Amino acid sequence: MLNKSALLVINPADLPSLPAAIRKLQDIVSEDAPDIQEIAGIIETDQAFTAKLLKLVNSPFYGYSRKIVSVEEALAILGFNTLRSLLMATSLIGSIRTDSRILDAGRFWRHSFGVGVIAKHLLFKAGKEAREEALVGGILHDIGRLVMAKMDPKLFVWFYFERAVVTSLEEETEYFGFDHQMIGETLAVKWKFPAGIVEAIARHHTPTSAVVSPQLVAAVNIADMLCHALNIGESGNHYISSFHPEAWAVLGLNMGELETALHESVNEIKRSEGIFTQVSQAN
Ligand SMILES: [Fe+2]
Ligand SMILES: [Fe+2]
Repeated sequence: MLNKSALLVINPADLPSLPAAIRKLQDIVSEDAPDIQEIAGIIETDQAFTAKLLKLVNSPFYGYSRKIVSVEEALAILGFNTLRSLLMATSLIGSIRTDSRILDAGRFWRHSFGVGVIAKHLLFKAGKEAREEALVGGILHDIGRLVMAKMDPKLFVWFYFERAVVTSLEEETEYFGFDHQMIGETLAVKWKFPAGIVEAIARHHTPTSAVVSPQLVAAVNIADMLCHALNIGESGNHYISSFHPEAWAVLGLNMGELETALHESVNEIKRSEGIFTQVSQAN
């Protein structure tokens, strides 16, 4: 057993920095009316970044029969916010993939993507807003766990895998000094994610405390539970979110709608099988 006395301390300065191209984009883009041509111009200055983006839009997930070859076209398909968050997530996932003994990036990505797709379909069926945010919020919800894997790989492997027991947020705090919601929130704030996405990361196991975007947080919470139940991917833990009837009530779905949402989600996830490994590959 590892010594748990050497608790880690959250210091935003120690967390990964935003990839340079995204940082540049953050600086020039106004929230309301981003200039697609200007954004495309910046992206094109970074070859690796461009390659990753084109790989993503040409993946089966987006289902285009012809090949998308320009950044501008890719941006029009994805939308800037989705693009930015997807690239942030894949950059971080890509940065730890060198050591598959720590965390299987493909399975982690599959879990994250699965939660995003299910959350999106739940909100769609419930007729709620924020569907695109749900995809991104789902993809990023466990990003704190990646940071933990980077900060202390040895403790991470022992804590999540070698013990093979169910863990809780409290236990994470006991051993690491913080839980994956807290460290994920710190990173999300540092990287200037939209407020709803920050909350999905910071409250997905405690959805009743959501104030900014309760519907989004509820959808990610329920989707996380369903993903574990359906064995879609793996987030590096045996921790299954508790069921929160209040979160379920926020969505206001009946069983028939849940069934349809799940059916559509599983089909979409299946269609996108290859995307998990493709986009999580390092530059
Ligand atoms: Fe989580
Ligand atoms: Fe999760």
